[in-house]
Amino acid sequence: MTDRYTVFGHPIEHSKSPRIHTAFAAQTGQDLSYTATLAPLDGFEAALSAFRAAGGRGANVTVPFKEEAYRLATRLAERARQAGAVNTLLLDGSEIIGDNTDGVGLVRDLTENLQYGLAGKRILVLGAGGATRGILGPILANQGAECPARLFVANRTAAKAVELARLFGCEGGGFDAIPAEPFDIVINATAASLAGEMPPLPAGVFAPGALAYDMMYGRETPFLSFASARGACTADGLGMLVEQAAEAFWLWRGVRPATAPVLAALRAELAGS
Ligand code: ATR
Repeated sequence: MTDRYTVFGHPIEHSKSPRIHTAFAAQTGQDLSYTATLAPLDGFEAALSAFRAAGGRGANVTVPFKEEAYRLATRLAERARQAGAVNTLLLDGSEIIGDNTDGVGLVRDLTENLQYGLAGKRILVLGAGGATRGILGPILANQGAECPARLFVANRTAAKAVELARLFGCEGGGFDAIPAEPFDIVINATAASLAGEMPPLPAGVFAPGALAYDMMYGRETPFLSFASARGACTADGLGMLVEQAAEAFWLWRGVRPATAPVLAALRAELAGS
């Protein structure tokens, strides 16, 4: 029987996850189906129960259900515990195993697709919401010579950045507390791009050859325009989307799909739309 997977969200119609996982399955010869499920805002638990009862083997979870998925999981991977949110569920008998592949997806996009190693780098993360919480653990995962030289979390509400910095053992504060030195990698994990805005950044925030990474994709955000006008290289979050999916696919199927052709196909499609 074909194994069933889905992504739960609200809204969900623009999700690229069915496309990505269907491409992974074709590429690796895995017999599975992957659909998108619109769960009512107050109906995620019921939708998940129905999917499990129908034999669903796993699911991705997106906005706004990642925290609820975290609470419903009967077991949690350490990185999901750190993130306080779950984007991947493995449904195994009575167990609901919650994991979070967002952070590792970002790190793989940075280090493998974009070839920006994190070792010794000065990294600035903008925002202190769920998106930031999901990526700090994986960014800081490497120890010793492999770890970043500095990681500063800056947020409009300074207290939230200070709290995350305390939790993860890095630095944090308001935008006005961003250290005056240039950064090698600046990651925008705020929701500002959604409103066509960008966080206030000091002049000289980008070191020569710096990378500006916006976790949003599919549009030229004010943050990326600001960065490229100041000589930084830029990247959007499409690679992270594909890489987090590949990690989920690996958890479910024990097979690692090649991400480059899937990313290239999505990129071409976005460019044409
Ligand atoms: P997510 O789960 O996507 O991180 P969230 O938890 O609502 O969503 O967090 C949104 C983040 O974007 C927060 O860091 C928020 O800053 P505050 O904590 O001060 O609210 C940030 N954000 C949203 N709009 C912003 C804007 N226009 N400028 C700067 N930061 C913004």
